[in-house]
Amino acid sequence: MVEIKNFNKIIVANWKLNGSTSFVKDYIKGLDYNPNNSPSNCLIICPPVTYINQFINSDYLIGAQDCSIFKEGAYTGEISSKMLSDIGCNFCIIGHSERRALFNDIEINIKQKIENCFNDHIIPILCVGENLMQRKQGLTKDIIKDQLNLGLPKKFKSDQIILAYEPLWAIGTGIIPKTEEIHEIISFIKNDILNEKDYKILYGGSVKAENYKQILDLDDVDGLLIGGASVNIDEFNKILKF
Ligand code: PGA
Repeated sequence: MVEIKNFNKIIVANWKLNGSTSFVKDYIKGLDYNPNNSPSNCLIICPPVTYINQFINSDYLIGAQDCSIFKEGAYTGEISSKMLSDIGCNFCIIGHSERRALFNDIEINIKQKIENCFNDHIIPILCVGENLMQRKQGLTKDIIKDQLNLGLPKKFKSDQIILAYEPLWAIGTGIIPKTEEIHEIISFIKNDILNEKDYKILYGGSVKAENYKQILDLDDVDGLLIGGASVNIDEFNKILKF
């Protein structure tokens, strides 16, 4: 398993449903980032599963965007954490808000997927966050607390998992919370929910070249989960100066 505790900052590129064979080739050629030159930082690329094999002999760490609740068997269309591990994947995004909203990813399944990842030596990247209505009602902390209480397995260590705070209203909208709010929520997760500072917690939602630094520099923010800007190579290269 990749040792995440020694990383200072972690950047995760979530490609979502984007990419092609030629795009991957151009992306690998165009990425202005050499992991060997910045061993204290970490870049994890999460392309669609069909393109993972194109990264296998590259220097980059690779993640998937979801995995099955099942381990094997008659489950047409599913991909297990064991299969992801088998093809060299070290990470897997779990519980992304798009999976929760569009594919009925509920807490009991999220918990099972995380357990599967643990068993197969994959580090899950668990996403949590409130929607706009919940935010307006002042429920942000309650929602996140519930998502973590219901979604996390009982026993695990801080170096087995990465968390990402992604307010739904910030994803793909170009709107981001105030930096104080990001700091407050991430500190709340570390200090009041998990009671441990050592957890790696990322922020995600409309991170761009123009705003990434102010978020990444925040105390307690261990990195960024980036969607749209991670498939725009020029934009992403600016962020990779981190
Ligand atoms: P965005 O997506 O950067 O395009 O807002 C982030 C995410 O969904 O993980």
